[in-house]
Amino acid sequence: MHVVCGVSILATIVALFPSGYAIETNYRIGAGIADITGPAAEVNMMGYANPSQVSNGIHFRQYSRAFIVSDSAGQKPVVFVSVDACMLSQVIKLEVVKKLAAMYGDIYTEKNLCISGIHTHSTPGGFHQYILYDITSLGFVEETYEALVNGIVKSIQRAHDSIRPGNIFINEGELLGSNINRSPTAYANNPVDEKARYRYNVDKNMTVLKFVDANNQGIGMINWFAVHCTSMNNTNGLISGDNKGYASYLFEKSMNSTSLPGQGKFVAAFAQSNEGDVSPNTAGPRCLDTGLPCDTATSTCNGRNELCVAFGPGKDMVDSTRIIGENQFRRALELFNAASTMVTGPVDFRHTYVDMSQVKVHQQNTTVQTCKPAMGYSFAAGTTDGPGMFDFKQGANSSNFFWNLIRDFLKDPSKAQIDCHRPKPILIDVGEMTRPYAWAPDIVDTQIFRIGQLVIITVPAEFTTMSGRRTRDAVTNALKASGFPSNTVSVIAGLSNDYADYVTTYEEYQVQRYEGASTIYGPHTLEAYIQKFVMLAEALAKGENVSAGPPPPNLYSKQLSFLPPVIFDLPPLGKHFGEVIQDAEQQYRQGTTVEVKFVGANPRNNVKAEGTFLKVEQLQSNQQWAVKYTDSSWETRFHWKQTNMILGHSEVGITWDVPANQEEGTYRIQYLGDWKRIDRLITPFTGTSRNFTIVSAEAIPH
Ligand SMILES: *[C@@H]1O[C@H](CO)[C@@H](O)[C@H](O)[C@H]1NC(C)=O
Ligand SMILES: *[C@@H]1O[C@H](CO)[C@@H](O)[C@H](O)[C@H]1NC(C)=O
Ligand SMILES: *[C@@H]1O[C@H](CO)[C@@H](O)[C@H](O)[C@H]1NC(C)=O
Ligand SMILES: *[C@@H]1O[C@H](CO)[C@@H](O)[C@H](O)[C@H]1NC(C)=O
Ligand SMILES: *[C@@H]1O[C@H](CO)[C@@H](O)[C@H](O)[C@H]1NC(C)=O
Ligand SMILES: *[C@@H]1O[C@H](CO)[C@@H](O)[C@H](O)[C@H]1NC(C)=O
Ligand SMILES: *[C@@H]1O[C@H](CO)[C@@H](O)[C@H](O)[C@H]1NC(C)=O
Repeated sequence: MHVVCGVSILATIVALFPSGYAIETNYRIGAGIADITGPAAEVNMMGYANPSQVSNGIHFRQYSRAFIVSDSAGQKPVVFVSVDACMLSQVIKLEVVKKLAAMYGDIYTEKNLCISGIHTHSTPGGFHQYILYDITSLGFVEETYEALVNGIVKSIQRAHDSIRPGNIFINEGELLGSNINRSPTAYANNPVDEKARYRYNVDKNMTVLKFVDANNQGIGMINWFAVHCTSMNNTNGLISGDNKGYASYLFEKSMNSTSLPGQGKFVAAFAQSNEGDVSPNTAGPRCLDTGLPCDTATSTCNGRNELCVAFGPGKDMVDSTRIIGENQFRRALELFNAASTMVTGPVDFRHTYVDMSQVKVHQQNTTVQTCKPAMGYSFAAGTTDGPGMFDFKQGANSSNFFWNLIRDFLKDPSKAQIDCHRPKPILIDVGEMTRPYAWAPDIVDTQIFRIGQLVIITVPAEFTTMSGRRTRDAVTNALKASGFPSNTVSVIAGLSNDYADYVTTYEEYQVQRYEGASTIYGPHTLEAYIQKFVMLAEALAKGENVSAGPPPPNLYSKQLSFLPPVIFDLPPLGKHFGEVIQDAEQQYRQGTTVEVKFVGANPRNNVKAEGTFLKVEQLQSNQQWAVKYTDSSWETRFHWKQTNMILGHSEVGITWDVPANQEEGTYRIQYLGDWKRIDRLITPFTGTSRNFTIVSAEAIPH
C-alpha cells in the first residue's frame, strides 16, 4: 500500500516519535489559506456552460490553499496552490506572478508557481482571457477576477510568512465507490493490452502528502484524487466547493474544531488530477423522462442529449456532494494518519511555455503535428454530468449580448484545419478566429515539480484517465532512466495554470465523445504534451536548463464585459434594509431547520472577502454573543432573490440546519449586507432575528 522507500525504517521511527521533541528536518514548509469567494449574485457559474445557472447565494465559501516547500537550506522553493474554482486561467496566473514579483522579487515566478483548480462547477465565472470560456458569463467579470487574484496572493503570502523547518510523508491507497467513467465507450477504444494492465477504467488511487513541523505537529495535507466536482448539478445557484471543497472543510475542521471555516492553521487541499472522463455521479446516467438507462454510446434518450443525466449516490445533489466529499475526507485522513514513508531528496522544478498549436510529434517512422484549436460537435452536447446548453448557433440571436457581438466573427474552418482535426467534425473553429481577441489559447504552461521522490506534473487541461496514466508513466520512466531512484512516483495536477480544455488518448479521440471533441489541438495532443513533459523531466534529472518558450499574451486590457453592474438597491416602501420579513420561531429542536428572511441588498456590492453575510450566534453566560456558524458553514445557506428589478428590491433567506448535537441555549441569526445608492455610495447594514432557543430533540413532544 505504501510507496516504496529506501529509508522507511528511519521514517517510521520519525513518524512514531512523540510530539514535542524537535527532530531532524529535511525541508522548509509553509502553508496558507485565504478566501477567494466571487460575486454571490447574478454571475454565471463556470463549468456547465448553462446560461441559466447564475449565482444566487452561498452554500460555503471558496478558498485558495497554498503550500511552499524548499530544501532545508531554503533553496529553490516550489509553490503549489489549490483553488476552489473550476480551473485556473492564464490571465490570473500572469497577474498573480506580477504581484508576487512586486512583493518578493524573483523568489516566486511563473516557473516555480503552480495554481491548480479543483474543478467545482458551482463558483462564479468570467475570469478567463479567451473568448470561448467567457461566453456564458456575458464576457469578463472583473469582480470574480479580483476575488481570485487577491485571495490567491494572500494565501501565498500567508504560506510564505509561515515557512518553518519540517518533514513530509507520502502515502497512497485506493478509494472505491467514489468515481466512475462517464465516457466508457471512448475508454474502451484504448488498446486491449494497455487496458489489461488496469483493474478499473478510472484511477482509484489517492496520493497523500503529509506536512509536519520540527515538533511533528501537522502543518497541512495535499492529496490528489481524480474525480469531477460535479456532484452539485447545473441547477445549483449557491456558491460551493462541491465534493472536494467539502472534503477540505471536513479535514480542516477535524484538525481544529475550535476555529470557524477558513480560519484554522491547518491547511488541507483536495487537489484535482486526471479527471477528464471521471464523474462523481456513481449511480450513473439515466433518462429524466423515463428513468431508464440512456443509450450508452451516444448518452441520449430518444436522440436527445439534454434528457440523459447522471445521478450521484445521494437522495439529492447536496446529499451526493456530502457522500463523495466525506468519502474523500475519510480516506485522506486514514492515509494521512498512516503515512510513514518519508519524502527525501531535492526540491526542483522545470517550466517552459509551449505553443501547443504547432508541436511536431516524433513517432516511430513519422512526424505528426498538433493543430490550431477547434471544438468538435459533441462539445455542444455536453456530458451526462451536465447535458449541453451550448446551443449558440451562427447568426442566431440570443439574449446574450456578448454572443450577439462575437458570433459575427465565427468562421468556417479551413481545409487544413479540417484535415488536421479529422475525424473530429469542427463546430467552432476557435483557433482560426482572432477577433475581437483570441478565442482559445495557443501558448500554455508546461511544468514539473520535484519534491524528493515525488514528481508533480502540472497540466493546463483536463486529462482523461488513460491520458494521465500514459503521461505519468512516460515521465516516471524518463526520470528513472536518467538516474532517479526506483521509488520515484508522479502525480498529475489537473487544471493548472491555464485552461486548454480536454486531453484524450489518440484512440479515445477517434470516438469523438465530449472529451474528444474538446481535445482542442487535435488527435496528437496527448503525444505532444508527453513529449514536452519528458523533455522537462530529462532536463530536471540531468540538471540542465530549459528554454523559457514563447511568452503567452496578456489580454486583460482587451476584455469585453456585458454583465450589467448593480445600479442601486432600495427597500420596499415603509421597510428598511435588514428588516426581518420572516422571523425565527421561539424554539427549535436539535436536528431541525431554522429559516429567516430579511429585506436585502445585492451581495455583489461587497463580496466580503474573509467575512460573512450571516452569523449564527449563541448567547454566552457573560451575556455576550459568540459566532458559531458563518456563511462558510456546511450547515447554513445564504439565498439572495431579486423581487423587483426596476425598483431594486431584493430579499435574503438564511437557513441553518441545527445539528442533532447542537448545544442547547439561546441563539440568533444576523444578516450582514451592503446596499448601493444610485450615486454608487455603498453602506453596510445589519439585520437580526429574534432570540430563539435550541432545545434537546426529546424536550418537546411533537
Ligand atoms: C495505485 O497505488 C498502488 C500502490 O502504490 C500501485 O501499486 C499502483 O500501481 C497504483 N495504480 C495506479 C493506476 O497508479
Ligand atoms: C486550533 O485553534 C486554536 C484556537 O484558534 C489554537 O489555539 C490552536 O493552536 C489550534 N490548533 C492547531 C493544531 O492548529
Ligand atoms: C439536480 O438535482 C436535483 C436534486 O438535488 C434534481 O431534482 C434535478 O433533477 C437535477 N437536475 C439535473 C439537470 O441534473
Ligand atoms: C515503422 O517501421 C517499422 C520497422 O521499420 C515497421 O515494422 C512498422 O510497420 C512501421 N510502422 C508504420 C506505422 O509504418
Ligand atoms: C436578429 O435580430 C436582428 C435585429 O433585431 C434582426 O434584424 C435579424 O433578422 C435577427 N436574426 C435572426 C436570425 O433572427
Ligand atoms: C541555468 O539557469 C540558471 C538561472 O537562470 C543559471 O544560474 C545557470 O547558470 C544556468 N545553468 C546552465 C547550465 O546554463
Ligand atoms: C436577546 O437577548 C439579549 C441578551 O439577553 C438581550 O439583550 C436582547 O434584548 C434580546 N433581544 C430580544 C429581541 O429580545
